[in-house]
Amino acid sequence: MRLYKIFAGFTLLLSILVLSSFRTLSSKDEEKPQWRNVQILPQTLTRVEMDAIMEAWSTALGVSCSHCHVKGNMAADDKEEKIISRKMLTMTNEINEKYFGKDSGTISCMTCHNGHAHP
Ligand code: HEC
Ligand code: HEC
Repeated sequence: MRLYKIFAGFTLLLSILVLSSFRTLSSKDEEKPQWRNVQILPQTLTRVEMDAIMEAWSTALGVSCSHCHVKGNMAADDKEEKIISRKMLTMTNEINEKYFGKDSGTISCMTCHNGHAHP
């Protein structure tokens, strides 16, 4: 009986430890990353949100990440296409703000590019 209690206590402790390590892991995952060179997009984007936006841009232009980024350093501004994209984003935001409402998202890269780098 005594042994059983010790064993039960140990199992409980173990599961608490395992569960709390899972929690640290998932809250780390949701942590807001410090972007190194984000100038127009919100600094507060999570990695999941950033990935979704970048996937959408790639699809809209029918390109891969390397169209705008040099390999291994997403923060670098080495490519002309990345610089142009910031202007494109500013333009897109301004069109939405002026004609459709801020954050309406009515106009997107896809509206004009429709899968082509050169619409
Ligand atoms: C059409 C151009 C374009 C494509 C394609 C693109 N990106 Fe980006 N990416 C940008 C621009 C522009 C920024 C910076 C935005 C800003 O300054 O607000 C950026 C920023 C980032 C950042 C933040 C880096 C930092 O720390 O400053 C990451 C990460 C990233 N892109 C990943 C990707 C991945 C992964 C893909 C492919 C799925 C991708 N990008 C495709 C233009 C592009
Ligand atoms: C109102 C229409 C419109 C919107 C919205 C728009 N673009 Fe463009 N974009 C153009 C036009 C037109 C060109 C010039 C095409 C050419 O040079 O042949 C262009 C050119 C570009 C280029 C340079 C061409 C190349 O080599 O890739 C990039 C990069 C680009 N756009 C990214 C974006 C991104 C990213 C978005 C969304 C944040 C966006 N654009 C939204 C119309 C638009």
